[in-house]
Parts: sequence; structure tokens; C-alpha cells
Amino acid sequence: MRLNEHTVITGKSVILTPYVSEHVEQYHKWMQDPFLQEMTASEPLSIEEEYDNQKSWREDDEKLTFIILDRESESMIGDVNLFITENEDSAEVWNGEVEIMIAEESARRKGVATEAIRLFMHYVCEHLPRVQLFFVKIGDSNESSLKLFEKLDFRFHKHVEVFSETELRQSVTGALTNSLKEHWADYSATLINKPP
Ligand SMILES: CC(C)(COP(=O)(O)OP(=O)(O)OC[C@H]1O[C@@H](n2cnc3c(N)ncnc32)[C@H](O)[C@@H]1OP(=O)(O)O)[C@@H](O)C(=O)NCCC(=O)NCCS
Repeated sequence: MRLNEHTVITGKSVILTPYVSEHVEQYHKWMQDPFLQEMTASEPLSIEEEYDNQKSWREDDEKLTFIILDRESESMIGDVNLFITENEDSAEVWNGEVEIMIAEESARRKGVATEAIRLFMHYVCEHLPRVQLFFVKIGDSNESSLKLFEKLDFRFHKHVEVFSETELRQSVTGALTNSLKEHWADYSATLINKPP
């Protein structure tokens, strides 16, 4: 979506920046890795398809994405996304599927995903208030991700046998938005809308 096309969020150890065409080559390189393909349940794409993908994440109203940069080196380390679907019970509110990838192995186990997701969810709660439920689908072999989201207070919703994946959910409550606000302050996070 176009909502965040000029938005840069700076936290303690990460920067969230819009996914632009300059990022595609590195992104495409990452997605050649069979481990990342398996963990993210992704098929390898051609470079042309990856450019189309970047365009669709920028233009489609149901997709929100940021590239995650290491704050110190400003190099790309991953991405965090939201895919919006309609809520089963009410057309007024939306569900948001969260996806995260810390593609650079050297950046893992340092709290980067935790920080990026908290900053991202705070941004979503502030700017897309119709999102009332976050959910995540995690493959059975991805114990790291399961632990990560449980630590972030996502809770078991269902196991889908045919896809060998578990869905965890978290509703947007006052407690969640308050806790995200506190984390935002702890990370001394800032949001800048850069001019086009
Ligand atoms: C899963 C992933 C996003 C975690 O990113 P990260 O930056 O390393 O995560 P954090 O450092 O914030 O870790 C937060 C918690 O997640 C859990 N965790 C992360 N990596 C783990 C691992 N290798 N083994 C066990 N638990 C792990 C731990 O509970 C950890 O808390 P702790 O460090 O206090 O024990 C990262 O490993 C990744 O991108 N993997 C490949 C792609 C992927 O799986 N994406 C998710 C698809 S659903």
C-alpha cells in the first residue's frame, strides 16, 4: 500500500524503511536460500517476478511492507509485512497476517525480530485502526518463529494439518496498544515522513 511509501521508523537497533526497487536485487538473492524458502513457505521467483512483487507490495491496498535495516551499518537484514484480510465476523474490521524474516544469519538472536515486530505493530495500530486482529502462520519445522511469536503474546489458534502449520493470533486490545506504546518509547523510536 502507499500508506508508508515515505515513512522511515528508526528504533534502537533497526530502521524500518519502505521496500523500493533498489532493495530487490538483495531480496532476490536472499530468497534463493532453500532454508529461507522453507521457513517462509515461499517459492523461488525470477528477478522479474521479484520486481513485480515489490511493485505489488507498494501498490496493493491489502499489503504493507518495510525492509529492515541494521541501524548501525544501514545494511538490509530482513523484512516485515502485513497482509490484510477481512474479518470473519464483521466487514468493518480487518485481520492482519504478520510476516517477518531476518535473512542475514549474523543479525539473528539479537532481538532484532522482536524489536521490528513491535515497532511495526505499533505503526499498524496507529495508522490502520481497522486491523483488530493480528495472526501468523508458522510451519511445523519453524520452532524459532513459534517461540518468537509466543514471546510476543500471540496464542495458539489452530493447527492446519494439510499445510503442516500452526496459526497463532493476538487481538488488538488496550493492553496490547499500551504495551506497544511503551516498547516504542523504550526503543526511543521515531517516525519520519520523508518528502517524495
Ligand atoms: C524466526 C526469526 C524471525 C527470529 O528472528 P531473531 O531476530 O533471531 O529473533 P529475536 O532475536 O528477536 O528472538 C526472539 C525470541 O525468538 C525465539 N528464537 C529466535 N531464534 C530462535 C532459535 N534459533 N531457536 C529457538 N528460539 C529462537 C526465542 O524465544 C527468542 O527469545 P530469546 O532470545 O530471549 O530466547 C529468524 O530466525 C528468521 O528470520 N528466520 C528465517 C525466516 C523465518 O522463519 N521467518 C518467520 C516465518 S513465520
